[in-house]
Amino acid sequence: MVLGVGGGIAAYKICELLRRLTESGHRVRVVPTEAALRFVGEPTWAALSGQPVETGVWDRVHEVPHVRIGQSADLVFVAPATADIMAKAAAGIADDLLTNTLLTARCPVVFAPAMHTEMWEHPATRANVATLRSRGAIVLDPAVGRLTGVDTGRGRLPEPAELFEAARLVLRRGTAEPDLAGRRVLISAGGTREAIDPVRFIGNHSSGRQGYALARTAAARGADVTLVAANVSLPDPAGVSLVRVSSALELAEAMEAERAAADIVVMTAAVADFRPVDSAASKIKKSGAAPAPLELVENPDILAGLVTTREREGTDQTIVGFAAETDDVIANGRAKLARKGCDLLVVNQVGGGRAFGTEDNQATVLGADGTVVDIPTGPKEDLADRVWDLVVERSPGRTP
Ligand SMILES: Cc1cc2nc3c(=O)[nH]c(=O)nc-3n(C[C@H](O)[C@H](O)[C@H](O)COP(=O)(O)O)c2cc1C
Repeated sequence: MVLGVGGGIAAYKICELLRRLTESGHRVRVVPTEAALRFVGEPTWAALSGQPVETGVWDRVHEVPHVRIGQSADLVFVAPATADIMAKAAAGIADDLLTNTLLTARCPVVFAPAMHTEMWEHPATRANVATLRSRGAIVLDPAVGRLTGVDTGRGRLPEPAELFEAARLVLRRGTAEPDLAGRRVLISAGGTREAIDPVRFIGNHSSGRQGYALARTAAARGADVTLVAANVSLPDPAGVSLVRVSSALELAEAMEAERAAADIVVMTAAVADFRPVDSAASKIKKSGAAPAPLELVENPDILAGLVTTREREGTDQTIVGFAAETDDVIANGRAKLARKGCDLLVVNQVGGGRAFGTEDNQATVLGADGTVVDIPTGPKEDLADRVWDLVVERSPGRTP
């Protein structure tokens, strides 16, 4: 693969990304810009990659590197992608080795931008990002957080471990076509917590791994992803907008705020069916007497609510539900699908160490059209990719 490095302050983080890539067996040709070498020098890239490092088109001309490097790559990953590199790529400028490589590459191309919020939000950058996406490149939205100095905002480069995951997921698909490009995807993940008092809650064992796998794989297929995460302690996926919530009511509110903009909604979060009627303002103490019974009230049914709103508004939004069942898995799944009215219901068996918090998962996907697809046990990202395949089959969507 080609690792294009732009002249942004985050270039130092790319040393770690490079290390992860080479250690996992990838052959990486680093192509920095002149500006990138002001931040991290040529010897660092050459030593870490074990490959020659040039920035211009005039070195080793007999090998025609300005054409060869792009032609022979399986992936071109540009990080940090500066405003300048994206402007040049969008305009088709080819004035150094990296921009030439971008024009000759026919493999997937990923940009991981990093810059100050003002630069990211500038209409010129927005237009360049839209152009690159419309041509099939994956442009990962930058993260929100600390920028170069004391300032914070959107524009931060995602963490190297998550950039590595993004590169790995694009490479494993092995196709240059990001089939979710232009689609806005809303995913809920994790498990809600219903407060009993300031220190105690009613919760569940959902880790959020399946929802996060769906978010990562959707981003690797070019989707614009918003992830509503309830009490998840996993690293933030690269290129995904994250909204953190805790209780079922907060989750419902966040989904309501985001749903109208979404073409596809996937509800993987394990939402509590009930919450305590009252949450004590201060910690409940032992009094010696029998504890007061916990009185519960039903939470709103978020999945059914999303379907009702879709019907009312008459949109063609695709809605996918997840059902965790301990027994009579398929029968309970069918009943739930009929009750909720979503397009696909991914039913998996939980309990006995299955599904919750594990790396692997297995499921049966029930379609509203009567289809049944079994997904064998495998990594949660395999299951996620199968779910996206099924969604794309049902709603091919806009061509980017
Ligand atoms: C300290 C410093 C930090 C910079 N950080 C960024 C950055 O994070 N993102 C960006 O787009 N430009 C950044 N720039 C501006 C770029 O270096 C400048 O636009 C340069 O022309 C980019 O060249 P390149 O795109 O060929 O690498 C920074 C400049 C300096 C001096």
